Amino acid sequence: MIITIDGPAAAGKGTLAAALAEKYKLSYFDTGMTYRAVGLEMILSGKDLHDAAAATEFARNLTFPKMMELSQHQEFRSEQGGKAATAVATMPAVRDYLTRMMRDFGKNPVFADGTPAKGVIYDGRDTGTVVCPQADIKFYLKAAPEIRAERRLKDFAAKGIDISFEEVLEHVKKRDESDYQRKGTWPADDALIFDTSDLSIDEVIAKASKIIDEKQKNS
Ligand code: C5P
Repeated sequence: MIITIDGPAAAGKGTLAAALAEKYKLSYFDTGMTYRAVGLEMILSGKDLHDAAAATEFARNLTFPKMMELSQHQEFRSEQGGKAATAVATMPAVRDYLTRMMRDFGKNPVFADGTPAKGVIYDGRDTGTVVCPQADIKFYLKAAPEIRAERRLKDFAAKGIDISFEEVLEHVKKRDESDYQRKGTWPADDALIFDTSDLSIDEVIAKASKIIDEKQKNS
């Protein structure tokens, strides 16, 4: 089974994807990690973030072990890391290589320990439209920018990162602007759209689970 969860930054995709992967014993691919990995390599090597040739080389050579290694870096999930990811995500050649990596994973999905999985949950921006249009179930999560900024702020506070609400909101809006200019970032025609602004994570998991259970019953 292949499930895709798309939507803007901090809409709750990661939390939902991790919970569903655990519940249904599926592998989980956080596709934003690939863009963050390439963005971080650009930062660490001191490249200009607009250097498409350099970013393309990093994308072409990206492997899972490399991505996991980079994910340990403190800037991987920082606002600066997010900005770099969004910058390289505008480059078509980078997207081509990373999309290929995501699709290849879906052909033989495995868990983190290398054991085979019977399916995968992708989370990202274009996983139901571009990466895996043939997915069995597509979810699209959305929430007001202010609510998403509030959630991000809580994540930062938990990590001890000092940043203001206004600053986080501005970053959220800037990344939305850049992400929405791209083809494939809007919900797939057959996606189920959840507005998570007024829903708790447990309510979102319950709604999504009901749909997965029904699909499994009928297949
Ligand atoms: O989801 P996350 O915030 O980690 O993603 C980082 C950035 O990577 C996003 O802002 C977006 O620009 C890009 N991205 C993308 N396509 C995906 C996943 C992420 O363009 N499938």
